[in-house]
Amino acid sequence: MANVFTRMGDWVIERSPGMLPMYRKHMTEYYAPKNFNLWYYFGSLAMLVLVNQIVTGIFLTMNYNPSAAGAFDSVEYIMRDVEWGWLIRYMHSTGASLFFVVVFLHMFRGMMYGSFKKPRELVWLLGMLIYLALMAEAFMGYVLPWGNMSFWGAKVIISLFGTIPVIGSTLVQWIMGDYLPADATLNRFFALHVIALPLVLLLLVVLHLAALHEVGSNNPDGVEIKKGPKGNRWDALKPADGIPFHPYYTVKDLFGVGVFLMVAAFIIFFAPMLGGWFLEHDNFIRANNLVTPALIKPVWYFTPFYAIVRMFPAMLGTAVWGVLAMFGSLAVLVALPWLDVGTVKSIRYRGTGYKVATGLFVLAFFGLGAVGTDLTAELIPKLFGHVDVTFWENLFGRSMTAIYFGYFVFLWLYTHLGWEKTKPVPERVTTHD
Ligand code: HEM
Repeated sequence: MANVFTRMGDWVIERSPGMLPMYRKHMTEYYAPKNFNLWYYFGSLAMLVLVNQIVTGIFLTMNYNPSAAGAFDSVEYIMRDVEWGWLIRYMHSTGASLFFVVVFLHMFRGMMYGSFKKPRELVWLLGMLIYLALMAEAFMGYVLPWGNMSFWGAKVIISLFGTIPVIGSTLVQWIMGDYLPADATLNRFFALHVIALPLVLLLLVVLHLAALHEVGSNNPDGVEIKKGPKGNRWDALKPADGIPFHPYYTVKDLFGVGVFLMVAAFIIFFAPMLGGWFLEHDNFIRANNLVTPALIKPVWYFTPFYAIVRMFPAMLGTAVWGVLAMFGSLAVLVALPWLDVGTVKSIRYRGTGYKVATGLFVLAFFGLGAVGTDLTAELIPKLFGHVDVTFWENLFGRSMTAIYFGYFVFLWLYTHLGWEKTKPVPERVTTHD
C-alpha cells in the first residue's frame, strides 16, 4: 500500500515539480520554535473550524431557502425532516461560536507574546482583516434563519449606519435594499455569507500563513530563533531551537484537535443552544416586524463591542459617537504594533505595568461583554437591591470602556516614553530538552 502511495506521489511530482519544494517549505522544513505551549493550538483549530463551517454550510445551503417567505420554514425543515439536518445545523451554529472562542484566544496569545511586533506586523494586520471579515460573516449568517432576533438584530445593526451625518439614512436603505430588513436584504446577505466572504476569508488565511512563514513563528519566550545558534547535527544550518513543523507539530496539533472535538461534540449533542448563548430563544420565533423582542442583543461574541456603542450618549444632536467608538475599539487593535513599541516581546519578561494593564484589559473585555448581554442589568438588582439599574450599569460600562481604551493609551505612553522596566530576555528559548 505504501508503495502505491509513493508511486502516486512520484507521478504527481513529476508533472508538477513545484509542489514538493512548497510542501517542504511549509511543512517538513518549516522550523517552528520547540517551546510552543497550549496557546499555540488555536491557529490550527481556527483552520479546523473554518473548514467545518464551509463543509456544513454547503450542506445547509442544499436545503435552505433564502427568501423572507421561506427561510424560517426551511430551517425548521432542515431540523425536523432532512436526514441528519439537525446535526449539520448544530455543527454550524456551534462552530460559529467556537470560531470566536478560538480566535479570541488566538489573538490574546498574539498580544501576550508580542507576536504582532516586528517582523510580524503584517501577520497581525492580515489577522485583523480576518477578524473583521469574520464579524461580517457571522452577522450575516445570523440573519439567514429569519427568526425574530435575526430580523431585529439586522435592523438595529444596519441602523447604526443611520447615525452617520448627511448620508446615514440613504446608506441604511442602500444596505437593506428596502425600508426594513426584507427579501432584498436576505438575498444579498445570503450571497455574501455563502460565497463572497468565505472566499475572502480563505484568501486572507492563505496570506496570513504565507506572511507568517516568511518571518517564522514567534514563541512564548519571544526569542527570534532564526537569529539564535544553528543546530549541530543533521540539521546543521537550521535554528537549534527549531523543530520541523511536520511531523512534530502536526502530531501535537492533532492532540489539540482531539480535545477540541470532544468539547464541540459535547455541546452539539447535549447543549446545542447552550442556554441561549449559542442559539437565542427569540430566534425560534418567526421574524415579525410588529413584535419587538423584549431585549434586542447580539450573540455573545459581539457584545463587548455592542456595549461600547451603548455606553456613549448622544451629544451635539447626534448618536454617532457610540458607533465611532465601536470602530475605534477595533482600530486600536489594528494599530497595536505601532502603539506598543516595547522591544521585549513576551509577557514573561515585560514590566509589571504591562502585566497589570493586560489583566485589567481582560477584565474590561469580559465586563463589556456582561453589559452587552444585559447580564449586569440582571445582576445589579440581585446584588444591590432596589437601586437605579441604568445609572449603575452605565457607570460600570463606562468604566470598562475607559479601561479598554486606556489600555492602548497606557501602552503607547509606557513604551514610547521608556517607562517600562523589563527583565533580561534569555538568549535561547527556555525549554529543556
Ligand atoms: C480564520 C482565522 C484564523 C486562522 C485560520 C489563523 C491561522 C493561524 C495559524 C495556523 C497560525 C500559526 C499557528 C499558531 O501560531 O497558532 C497563526 C499565527 C498567527 N496568527 Fe492567526 N489565524 C486566524 C486569525 C487571526 C487573527 C484574528 C489574528 C489577530 C488579529 C491572528 C494573528 C496571528 C499572529 C500574530 C500569529 C503569529 C503568532 C506567533 O508566531 O506567535 N490570527 N494563525
